[in-house]
Amino acid sequence: MTELKQMTLTVDDLLAGYDGTRILEGVSFSLKTGERLGVLGRNGMGKTTTLASIMGLTEFQGGNIAVDGQSISAMSTFQRARLGLGYVPQTRDVFPSLTVEENLLSALGKQPESRIEHAYQLFPRLKERKQNYGNQLSGGEQQMLSVARALMGNPSILILDEPLEGLSPLLAEQLMTDIEHLVETSGMGCILVEQHVDVVLRFATRVIILERGKVAFYGTPAELEQQPKLLEETIGLQKISA
Ligand SMILES: Nc1ncnc2c1ncn2[C@@H]1O[C@H](COP(=O)(O)OP(=O)(O)O)[C@@H](O)[C@H]1O
Ligand SMILES: [Mg+2]
Repeated sequence: MTELKQMTLTVDDLLAGYDGTRILEGVSFSLKTGERLGVLGRNGMGKTTTLASIMGLTEFQGGNIAVDGQSISAMSTFQRARLGLGYVPQTRDVFPSLTVEENLLSALGKQPESRIEHAYQLFPRLKERKQNYGNQLSGGEQQMLSVARALMGNPSILILDEPLEGLSPLLAEQLMTDIEHLVETSGMGCILVEQHVDVVLRFATRVIILERGKVAFYGTPAELEQQPKLLEETIGLQKISA
């Protein structure tokens, strides 16, 4: 396994949106390798916009995004990925007409091919399916492939936008277990957007709740658990996952 580069990501008073419209109204947080940030909030509150902004995929309108104190706000998405930010978008990042193996090869860039074998160790299912096309995979397999593609660049911080969405409770539990194992053994940092509060509370070292593009809460899972009223107001009653 390749060595992991230590990194600190700082998002400071971020303003961002689309085509002149403002969605994020001053979002701030920071994250180091080894830390796990859970992002909660109802639909449309700006979770995806926050993650996409870190990757340079929205309209940057102010504030700052920095890696190790150096601003990346003006960098291309490609440069940010090269720096060590691995992004798994909410829309699964899989080429339907390429095989599993080709999907991984196409994400490899200058990294050694041994990274593919490493991904197969994490997701043996992908190895079994390596000659199958993207569009022949189940939802769960597509999610695994999407995560595996992000891992090809040897990221220091892995950014996951609702990786469990649309999976059955059993598959969601299995994939989450794989993700937890991956993040813990590698020491990567991780940002996870996830609907289920219980998953986030179990996984995260810190939690942020977004409400209409603003930070409604930023603290530890233990601090959040002491504020059931805030949880109720910002997220509503949550179904507990399997
Ligand atoms: N590409 C886009 N162009 C314009 N508005 C968008 C775009 N993507 C999202 N939005 C708007 O930004 C707001 C936040 O969306 P999003 O970040 O996707 O929320 P979440 O991920 O929390 O559900 C919503 O009002 C949504 O309609
Ligand atoms: Mg979203």
